[in-house]
Amino acid sequence: MNIQVEKGKVLLVSGPASVITSEGKMTLFGANLPLGNKVVVRKKRTLPFEAEENAVLDVTLGGEAQIEEVTGSTIPNCWNKAVKEILSSIGLSTTIILGDIDCGKTSFCTFLANKALNTGVRTAIIDGDLGQSDVGSPTTVGMSLVSKPITDLFTLEPHTLFFAGLTSPSGVTERLITGIRALKVMASEMGIGVIIINTDGWVKGDEAKNYKTALVKETHPEAVVGIQRNDEVENILSYAEKEGFNVFRIASPLCIKKRNSEERKELREQGYRKFLEGATLRSLPMGWVEMEYTPLGTGMPLVADRLKDVETVLGHKPLYCEENSEELFIVSKENDKIHQEDIMKVVETFKKRLYIVKDGDEKGLIVGLLDKNKQFLGLGTIEKIDFENRVLRIYTPYKDKIGIIQFGQIKIDEKGKEEGIVKSFST
Ligand SMILES: Nc1ncnc2c1ncn2[C@@H]1O[C@H](COP(=O)(O)OP(=O)(O)OP(=O)(O)O)[C@@H](O)[C@H]1O
Ligand SMILES: [Mg+2]
Repeated sequence: MNIQVEKGKVLLVSGPASVITSEGKMTLFGANLPLGNKVVVRKKRTLPFEAEENAVLDVTLGGEAQIEEVTGSTIPNCWNKAVKEILSSIGLSTTIILGDIDCGKTSFCTFLANKALNTGVRTAIIDGDLGQSDVGSPTTVGMSLVSKPITDLFTLEPHTLFFAGLTSPSGVTERLITGIRALKVMASEMGIGVIIINTDGWVKGDEAKNYKTALVKETHPEAVVGIQRNDEVENILSYAEKEGFNVFRIASPLCIKKRNSEERKELREQGYRKFLEGATLRSLPMGWVEMEYTPLGTGMPLVADRLKDVETVLGHKPLYCEENSEELFIVSKENDKIHQEDIMKVVETFKKRLYIVKDGDEKGLIVGLLDKNKQFLGLGTIEKIDFENRVLRIYTPYKDKIGIIQFGQIKIDEKGKEEGIVKSFST
């Protein structure tokens, strides 16, 4: 349908929908929309189409789509002011964006990237939000070079990804900081002028604060942007200020509709599907690849006598067992009962850190695939581990040689739906 939008008005379009500017001049998060160009509004997202001149939009609405017209830009003035300052200050090259969930972090990154692009500077986005990640799949940090105006970070091709294995930073903060910092260094070495680091909305509590302050310290940005409704990230911003960082406090757009956990899960699933599309089953002997973030493969399979000792203490014969000097990894058969007191006995007897899993628990576990030089190649999910023959069977769209498999903690089913978290395969 054709919709006329007067100069100064904004059409808020909630997906699934597509929008083509057929007449006039429209912008979206600072990007000029060429006539005839189609913008896809994904399900569970709302995009503000701003009429710079009287315009006509050709809008196609899907099932749950909605449209609403409002007067005046929905982008707060303070966003414009902050972006101008960030881009005009010589040496302001890396910007980190902090804020609670649904405060507009991703949209601010998009807006800043579009404005940076207008000034002709080479721009990159590092999407450090493991859950609501747009550049990479959930469980990864993606880095993308922005070469044309963007309306949705989801459409960007990642230059490279870093696999963290979880959809929340809790428990993997050090791994995450190392990954984000490495991507920043990579972007700097590529001569990128404006590097934008997006973060997740985990800001409440000491653990979250410690993570975010450490991230600021380690990535050493020239600008720290805090998006707040009230004072959600004030504790992190005041720390950054004390440490001498340039802090920008900006408001969250009033029109943002909060998404519930089911909607956030649906958005994550769009991300998994993008990276698992076209997956086929591959078999990889464990001896051909290195395994990381897991105790599996770090030890030697147990000799018969030692296996018998484990069986005696555990009360049943394990399907597979391996150990190194500090850890014991036991796989029980699917139907064997594992009793807490037997686990305690194993720990007391063998005096090692114990990992105990059941055959089949691995089905659906997300994995990151890398080459021997730790360059990210693709994502996969484990279909089955044949422990006895030491073979991994993995669904992945990646077809070439794999050097390293990093184990994640999220389970995904064949349709790309999240099934939960499994920690027993992970270090
Ligand atoms: N200025 C704005 N005008 C209209 N819609 C907006 C504006 N800013 C953000 N939105 C919409 O609000 C929703 C939430 O914004 P956004 O995804 O940027 O928040 P976020 O802080 O990154 O959220 P998350 O915690 O999920 O990562 C999105 O659908 C986005 O398109
Ligand atoms: Mg976001």
